[in-house]
Amino acid sequence: MCGIVGYIGERQAYPIVVKGLKRLEYRGYDSAGVALIDEHLSVYKKKGKVADMEDAIVGQHLGGHVGIGHTRWATHGEPSDRNAHPHRSASGKLAMIHNGIIENYMAIKEELTQKGYHFSSDTDTEVLLNFIEDIRVNNACGLEEALRIALKRIVGAYCILLIDEDDPGTILAARKGSPLVIGIGKNEHFLASDASPIIEYTKEVVYVNDYQVAIVKKDELVLKNLGNEKVTPFITKLDMELAAIEKGGYDHFMLKEIHEQPATIFDCLRGRLLPEAGLIKMGGVEANIDALINAPRIIIVACGTSWHAGLVAEYLIEETCRIPVEVEYASEFRYRNPIIHPGDVIIAISQSGETADTLVALENAKEKGAFIFGIVNSVGSSIARLSHAGAYTHSGPEIGVASTKAFTGQLAVISMMALKMAAAKGTITTEKYTELLFELQAIPEKVATILKDTSHIEAIAEKYKDASDFLFLGRGYNFPVALEGALKLKEISYIHAEGYPAAEMKHGPIALVDENLPVVFVATRDRFYEKIVSNVQEIKARKGKVICVASEGDKVIPTMADDTMFVPDADELVGPLLSVIPLQLLSYYVGLKKGYDVDKPRNLAKSVTVE
Ligand code: F6R
Repeated sequence: MCGIVGYIGERQAYPIVVKGLKRLEYRGYDSAGVALIDEHLSVYKKKGKVADMEDAIVGQHLGGHVGIGHTRWATHGEPSDRNAHPHRSASGKLAMIHNGIIENYMAIKEELTQKGYHFSSDTDTEVLLNFIEDIRVNNACGLEEALRIALKRIVGAYCILLIDEDDPGTILAARKGSPLVIGIGKNEHFLASDASPIIEYTKEVVYVNDYQVAIVKKDELVLKNLGNEKVTPFITKLDMELAAIEKGGYDHFMLKEIHEQPATIFDCLRGRLLPEAGLIKMGGVEANIDALINAPRIIIVACGTSWHAGLVAEYLIEETCRIPVEVEYASEFRYRNPIIHPGDVIIAISQSGETADTLVALENAKEKGAFIFGIVNSVGSSIARLSHAGAYTHSGPEIGVASTKAFTGQLAVISMMALKMAAAKGTITTEKYTELLFELQAIPEKVATILKDTSHIEAIAEKYKDASDFLFLGRGYNFPVALEGALKLKEISYIHAEGYPAAEMKHGPIALVDENLPVVFVATRDRFYEKIVSNVQEIKARKGKVICVASEGDKVIPTMADDTMFVPDADELVGPLLSVIPLQLLSYYVGLKKGYDVDKPRNLAKSVTVE
């Protein structure tokens, strides 16, 4: 939610900041803006995407060696020019950008209004900025001290960058709950919400922690806590290539990421899955195997697509490890004062590793003594750092707002983890364990087979793109896949879609079925096959349009379905890694054919860092 970029050094700041904003646009695209200091402070901002801002400021003076930029996902105040960041302070001297929410901004605004301040936006950010300026004036102190004092008073989440016309050699930055990475170059520093705007210039980065303030000059980086004590910056080397964050010849990141899945799943399994040796090597699982297999209960905490991966994990872990699993929406779990027993294990699943609800749910559970295992894609992210142990999904940067390759990465990690735990616990036979290791090994190749020719899925998308509703149905391991298929379609094509366990259909949703309703069945050959065939017939009997995901070679389903998308056969425990792929493609093509921006669906943002 909101992307922030900053540059200080010897180059011109504007081109670097704008390029960085474009890389971060997946985080929000309601408005964009930059602030630059040359001789004076200039602020340019515009409702819409970064390109709209660029067009609007052609011909303006865009010089300066220090600059900050922002791409917004609106929280306080509608998307508009006036609510766009950066904001200027009342004196006109300071400019600030912010990712997060200041929860007590109303009280502070009231205080400032009584002192005669006027606000030109509806944002909490402008309030915080003027609060900082007011402290600086009243306490006759420096900006850094004023910032620290202000941060101690505010409640909420923030990553802020602050510049001062009278001190063009410094960017002040601070974070709590919203990410901040600082890239270290030669006589230059880069600041951003994630490493994607930085990777092109340097691989040496510092991940700033909560409650830290960074004083960034071109040749110096000082980190302090809010008590004004210096903290040694911990420099990490980025393990990411520029190509990973570019479209590489595809029209959209979403399509590129769907097609990357044979490689990303392979990368996730590589070095971990060793079927010939009958082994799964996962350091984080090995080191904590007793805690994991003796857990009286496992609670999985996640949001959205990651929550769907959690549902697959529930089926897998309960079946193979015989440990009770609960899957929780992080946003509900965090406010429910959940009961956590000694020994309970929390598994957090998150692509970004920054989702605010998941993060806070984990912090609460950690305080109650739970052991936290993180399944995260984004290396060095807040959830990865907060977890006691974990396993990265190694899916690479996911830029398309709708999650695709991160989901299959999560499924791959979960499958390996469940099998490793089951083997250690003795709840799986050696034959089944070995068979599943080989099944998993074959997945990347099978995904590649599905992706070889997608023209029939494109044709199905064309046929149904004008439907106003869709139903997605599945049983067992394919039930979470049905939910994921419905979520993808909603996000990308703005068509109302619902996912249901196929057997639940008769308890209500079947009333929706008529000749206009496309019903997508995830009907691969598994232990529920006969039952789902009956469900298909029930829909056909009511004149519904049936689209099926079926196993290759199935002769029955195509005789009943209006359209069929085939996937290679696989054991049902690893089946979701295949059955989700046609659904990702279906939603991509429907969105595309409806003329929508599939990489930046309306109202969404990639990383939900506000609750
Ligand atoms: C859907 C999607 C979201 C995310 C959710 C959690 O395509 O991307 O539903 O899955 O916001 O995000 P992470 O996994 O980053 O915690």
